[in-house]
Amino acid sequence: MIASAPGKVILFGEHAVVYDRPALAVPVKQVKAEVEVKEASHRGIWITATQIGLHAELSALAVDHPIGAVIREVFQRAGRSPSASLDIHISSTIPPASGLGSGAAVSVALVRALAGQISHPISDAQVNDLVFEIEKLHHGTPSGIDNTVITYAAPVYFTRGKPIETFRVDKPFTLVIGDTGVRAPTRKSVGDVRATWEKDRNRIEKMFDGIGEIVLQARRFIESGKPEQLGELMNRNHVLLRDLTVSSPELDRLVDAACRAGASGAKLSGGGRGGNMIALVEEENSQTIAKALMSAGARSTIITTVS
Ligand code: MEV
Repeated sequence: MIASAPGKVILFGEHAVVYDRPALAVPVKQVKAEVEVKEASHRGIWITATQIGLHAELSALAVDHPIGAVIREVFQRAGRSPSASLDIHISSTIPPASGLGSGAAVSVALVRALAGQISHPISDAQVNDLVFEIEKLHHGTPSGIDNTVITYAAPVYFTRGKPIETFRVDKPFTLVIGDTGVRAPTRKSVGDVRATWEKDRNRIEKMFDGIGEIVLQARRFIESGKPEQLGELMNRNHVLLRDLTVSSPELDRLVDAACRAGASGAKLSGGGRGGNMIALVEEENSQTIAKALMSAGARSTIITTVS
């Protein structure tokens, strides 16, 4: 049984979404996590994920190891003990700790492949719920946006604790995604924002309100066929994220380079401190802007159209 799941980018609203403001995210199908589960002739459940140097039997994984936890949880929800003879192969083209949802994508693909292999029917809502539990192991206090956009593989307008909403993209728009190459775990930036919020709630809450307003305006522009207006909102969202201390010199450099090369706006995307940024571009300029990002130090770029 094989299953895959896409990466994601947050268009607007990261970090503030942890504090109940809305955020917009879209899947990125150019990158994906893939999981194959096969019957094996040996005993036990062996997991191989070459990219992270993992080759182990399930019982050797710590209880809070996210991959082991997914497997145990699928068996538990199916009402079975994890005593099968299986080989599980995990691979991914989503760079880890880079804001593109690699952890959530591996979990979603693993849940679906394993549930399929053991003939346990599982709905999207159940996948989403299970992966949210695993996201807590990855980054402590996740909002749930990553597992949602990746499970449903559709644009998501997300507010914590509210029913999931998708949004309509009236006119497609193009993004260049640039990877700083700096790996930055979301747990750390989310934890640092929490520490600042605890010290200075009034100021940080106002910044979250500002981000929430940007998200609402962005949704209106996307749904009313005015995506060219999003650039200015990206710039404003980036400044607020920088003030929250989750940008980095590398992210600021790529954001500046994209704008100087003709992007109409740019911002970091995801947890920040490293990882990826996004730039809004005219489709015909996308290669030029991708090249400018590489010259400014990007490790790699992805051109994607949101439609
Ligand atoms: C991570 O992709 C987005 C954050 O807002 C964390 C979260 O929502 O769980 C930084």
